[in-house]
Amino acid sequence: MTQIATHRRELIFSPAIRIFHWLRALSILMLVVTGFYISWPFLVAPASSDVLVQGGIRFVHLVFGFVLTSITIVRFYLFFFAKSAIERRSIRDVLSLKSWIAQIKSYIWMGHLDKAGVYGPLQFVTYVAISFAALFMCITGLVLYANVYHQGLGGAIWEVSAWFTALMGGLAQVRIWHHIVTWAFIIFVVIHIYMAVWSGIRFKHNSVDSIVSGYDYHKEH
Ligand code: HEM
Repeated sequence: MTQIATHRRELIFSPAIRIFHWLRALSILMLVVTGFYISWPFLVAPASSDVLVQGGIRFVHLVFGFVLTSITIVRFYLFFFAKSAIERRSIRDVLSLKSWIAQIKSYIWMGHLDKAGVYGPLQFVTYVAISFAALFMCITGLVLYANVYHQGLGGAIWEVSAWFTALMGGLAQVRIWHHIVTWAFIIFVVIHIYMAVWSGIRFKHNSVDSIVSGYDYHKEH
């Protein structure tokens, strides 16, 4: 029996990109939950217990904080130097007014943008913004860390942390901005999940699935 393929598949996300995406998602979830707990501790260990609840939760925050810091550095590197230029090619659409108009019209069911890379212009700009927000959280997180742990890495980054703290107007400001920017991640995650599901339905392409399998598919003409 002869079978004719109706669709062709294309690898758009490498295993590294997919693994980092899900590790970053897990880290952000854990950091938001443990971070809010750190700012409002409510669990009290029994008087007879020597369990340090706040210390334990802060430890989990730091473990995921260092995971996020490592991924943030590697992800910035991969964006510029990965063999596949599929992410970098999206810059062409960001710089084209025609692409912006086509993209916005496509959101209201008027036509379709034939993307140069893997992201639409609005999506790309949003990802750049959230990547810089992650960088800001890593820097402010490391500054807070250096103020708690004075040896090892904390000691090594002490000088630069003191400089950054002065730049931000004091340690209280560093803490407050680390807290406020947490909300950017909460807002981003809600819109990101909605748009990922919606655009898969609207444009009849792999969307959520492609960050799991790595593949998108195209109709054969
Ligand atoms: C998306 C990323 C992150 C989120 C959402 C987040 C969230 C938070 C929040 C809400 C707090 C409590 C602030 C307050 O006292 O009001 C906090 C504290 C803190 N965070 Fe993060 N954080 C993130 C990344 C990081 C990173 C990357 C590090 C370090 C590598 C880090 C280290 C710390 C430290 C040391 C504290 C202070 C702990 C204390 O006061 O005992 N955070 N974080």
